[in-house]
Amino acid sequence: MKAESNNQRGFWGSRLGFILAASGSAIGLGNVWKFPYIVGENGGGAFVLIYLVCIFIIGTPIMLAEFTLGRKTHLNPVGAFNSLKPDSVYTGIGYMGVLAGFLILSFYGVVGGWTFAYVVKSMTGSVLSFASPKEAGVFFGNFISSTGEALFYHALFMGVCISIVLRGIHGGIERACDILMPTLVLFLLLLMVRSLTLDGAMEGVTFYLSPDFSKINANTILIALGQAFFSLSLGMGCMITYGSYLSEKENLTSSTVYVVIFDTLIALLVGMVIFPAVFAMGLEPAEGPSLVFSVLPVVFTSMPMGHLVSVIFFTLLAIAAITSGISLLEVVVAYFIDQQGWPRKKAVIIVGLVIFAFGVPSGLSFGVMAEWKLMGMTFFDHVDNIASNYLLPLGGMLTALFVGWIWGTKNAHLEIEKNENQFGFPWAQGWEFLIRYITPVAVGIVFLAKVFP
Ligand code: PFF
Repeated sequence: MKAESNNQRGFWGSRLGFILAASGSAIGLGNVWKFPYIVGENGGGAFVLIYLVCIFIIGTPIMLAEFTLGRKTHLNPVGAFNSLKPDSVYTGIGYMGVLAGFLILSFYGVVGGWTFAYVVKSMTGSVLSFASPKEAGVFFGNFISSTGEALFYHALFMGVCISIVLRGIHGGIERACDILMPTLVLFLLLLMVRSLTLDGAMEGVTFYLSPDFSKINANTILIALGQAFFSLSLGMGCMITYGSYLSEKENLTSSTVYVVIFDTLIALLVGMVIFPAVFAMGLEPAEGPSLVFSVLPVVFTSMPMGHLVSVIFFTLLAIAAITSGISLLEVVVAYFIDQQGWPRKKAVIIVGLVIFAFGVPSGLSFGVMAEWKLMGMTFFDHVDNIASNYLLPLGGMLTALFVGWIWGTKNAHLEIEKNENQFGFPWAQGWEFLIRYITPVAVGIVFLAKVFP
């Protein structure tokens, strides 16, 4: 079914609304939960530098390519590739994207549920009575391994995403992000002031900003690139989908730059909240995935105004998770609306419920299904691994090749230039070079290194 004839699609109401929604997709658990702990594990400032290089030479060109594909076709990822090269193998890139969206949301919803639970637990103060990360870790472990409680919050998170996406692009996603994103920024600034004014905070800042290049190896670069894709919501057609609701008036290049800078700034600022606080309280930053859930509660326990700070922090984390969760859901929903002609309501409810159901074994992977391992990994680990480490980089590389060589940068230029008015498309040659040569080769090398270590 063609987009123009499909009144279930909708458009963004304003340019700011679009930028906030796309940034909301990008800014998520990847920034607040994952970024700090992988910086902690991989040499602080040195990792941050490599991450920035990945963002600017690989992430930015792909984001512009995705927005362009979306705005050109006004379709979901499958429809977008199919309408530019009908009935070709390239449609497969779109299918991979929709599948990745499905898989990622299935486990993202589990972690999103944890953030909801910690909002409640920080309000009641039950996450604020720990003397050591070990104690806080046991509490966290007990919670995520519980069947009923973890599933309840997982369902709640999915229910919130479903209820927002049900209301459509302008009335649902855009409205939610218009409120949630400024709140997130305000909370982050408040937390940063608190963290940087603690005694001993500077030690954390030094760790964060001074590069330790001895920790950098080939694997670090793989991690940085994977994180760049995940954090910018690239490689699965999410930005194609969001771009598809743009009108011809909008400027794609500057929108890309805003979203990339916003996402990167938030990740960097989250580091400025977490590291100074962790060091000021004499703790270690290299705690891995449990950094946020087991080290921070100890930090909050001993910090002046810790109760309020903990509520603000976990609410921020939950907001970041929701605005990304809805974008993941929208990718799959848009496929059923455009390609299968489903009404939005039917698509959101069915897709949302099926993704929740598929996510249940991921949610149980920390409890009753913890021993159900295949090749040493739980269900959760497998889904995360397939989607984040394979589908996203592969999708990103194929999208770059498609725009660079198959659809062609000339056609892409025409689309981008539609609204660049009298200025023309700036940095056109630089982008063309990156998207045709640098991006696919760099992602290709990294991908092969991952598959054949
Ligand atoms: N960018 C989100 C984060 O950093 O948490 C995760 C994500 C959202 C990945 C949407 C991919 C996507 F399409």
